[in-house]
Amino acid sequence: MTLQQATSPVRIEPVVSQEHTRHLLAHGYAVVDALWTSAFAQSLAVEAERLIRRAVPAHQVKGPPPQATAAEAPLLSWLQFALLPTARALTGQVLVPICGWYNFYPVNDGIWLHVDVDDSDLVILATALGEVGPLHLHPQLQGLNQAELDVVYEAPSWNDTSGTPVAYPPLGIVAHRGRMVPHHRPGRPVRSPSAVAALHFKSIW
Ligand SMILES: [Fe+2]
Repeated sequence: MTLQQATSPVRIEPVVSQEHTRHLLAHGYAVVDALWTSAFAQSLAVEAERLIRRAVPAHQVKGPPPQATAAEAPLLSWLQFALLPTARALTGQVLVPICGWYNFYPVNDGIWLHVDVDDSDLVILATALGEVGPLHLHPQLQGLNQAELDVVYEAPSWNDTSGTPVAYPPLGIVAHRGRMVPHHRPGRPVRSPSAVAALHFKSIW
């Protein structure tokens, strides 16, 4: 399938309601489903599967999972630009794409408690391959830096099931203020190698 054939079914116009924008404002995230077709989801899975083959299982507790950047993934790169109107409609900000990658979970879908890269004002997350569990958001920990979050995460009192679980919709996105709202995913074995698309945007003002 060519890139043009793969991308043509995606709805690139904003499909964002006032409810979505209010939810993002109040809770730091919004779920927008039905943005693309199952055929496009399949094309994304094919690209992610091609790149995940070289990814090694992540053994570290902290730090990002194995990744491939959008520079290596033409469909992912296209998707980031296609979602720009949606990102702008959700936030009311003049956002620009800054970086994007696949996060690979070949064995386990856990990710440590963290906040996103400094430049990111919004991250758009979507299942690209397989299936991962919900992301757990911790708005009550907002304002802590990464070193402070590490202390919370490594303390004996840490509850790995804590936080607000947010599931990725099958044909859409979770838009998330990941630099502001700390988040983690409790680790569980994946049924098959899985990948999440993470697309970051920055406000130009
Ligand atoms: Fe993150």
